Order: sequence, then C-alpha cells, then structure tokens
Amino acid sequence: MMKLNINGKSHQVDVEPEMPLLWVLRDQLGMTGTKFGCGIAQCGACTVHINGEPVRSCSYPTSAAVGSKVTTIEGLSKDGTHPVQMAWKALDVPQCGYCQSGQILAAAALLRRKPRPTDADIDEAMTNICRCGTYQRIRAAIHLAAKTGKGVGSVIHMVSDAGELIDQQTTQA
Ligand code: FES
Ligand code: FES
Repeated sequence: MMKLNINGKSHQVDVEPEMPLLWVLRDQLGMTGTKFGCGIAQCGACTVHINGEPVRSCSYPTSAAVGSKVTTIEGLSKDGTHPVQMAWKALDVPQCGYCQSGQILAAAALLRRKPRPTDADIDEAMTNICRCGTYQRIRAAIHLAAKTGKGVGSVIHMVSDAGELIDQQTTQA
C-alpha cells in the first residue's frame, strides 16, 4: 500500500511500486483529465506536477511520487481560474483538446520558474506535442498568462481536502 498526496488530498493505493503514475491516476483513482498519448515520455499528454515541476506520468513510477505533492489538471485550480486556464479560455487555445491538460500543466510549471518567459524560453520548455498544431495559440496564451496572472510565477495553486484553494508559495520569485 502506498500513500499519495494528489491535489492536496491523501490517497492509499495498492499497486506495484513501478506502475506508472498515469495508470494510478486514471485507472485507480478515476482522474481522467490526465491523458495517455505515447506511453514513452515523448508527447507530454500525461504531464502532471511533482512538487511544482512537470513530469511525464506515463514513465514515472508511482513509488517515486510517495512523499511528494502531485498536482493534476483537476487540482491546478478549484474552478478553472488559474491564470493559465484563463488565458487558454480567452484565446480559445484547444482544438480537439486531447493534449491540452498536459500543455496547461507544462505552461504553469514554466511560469512558476519564469514569470516573464521569452519566445525562446517557451519553445525550449514547451516540448509537448499537439497533433492539431495549436502551438501559436499556446505561445500567445502563455504570454497572456504572464501579463495577467500576477503572482503566477510564485504560487502553486492546489485544492485542499475541504475543497479550499491553497496558494502554496514556492521559492521562485
Ligand atoms: S503519454 Fe506520457 S509522454 Fe506521451
Ligand atoms: S488540441 Fe488536439 S492534440 Fe492538441
């Protein structure tokens, strides 16, 4: 039995330690916002945060997440109001939508590290694949979130057991 902290809530899971975290999220816990694409850490559809850093959960052993804070698209904000989500909506970024939870998590992690990223920073950090080719809108939305999301670079938004939005401070200013 392993204990996981996901979106501020504690979960006990009885799986093999090396089972990919994505399988646990989707199949054991029913959190289907995180998507399966390639299964080999190439596409980024399965991106979640571990302690605020993006990881590809299809290739991340569940045992490695024990003792860390896992954030999925379901917990990035309580009601879809994280600055990245707001910018995504404002610019109608998604097309089919399949890659977008991974894109949003990757973008939120980028903005936490770099509150005012350049195009080059975005190109370097955003290696997630979008088969619909929404890359230009993704880039524009990250710039918009950087402008409108005051504090996005210094806060991880999480939801507590009680459903409260927790702004967890990070060391990045
Ligand atoms: S499904 Fe994990 S990177 Fe593609
Ligand atoms: S919006 Fe369709 S794969 Fe990205």
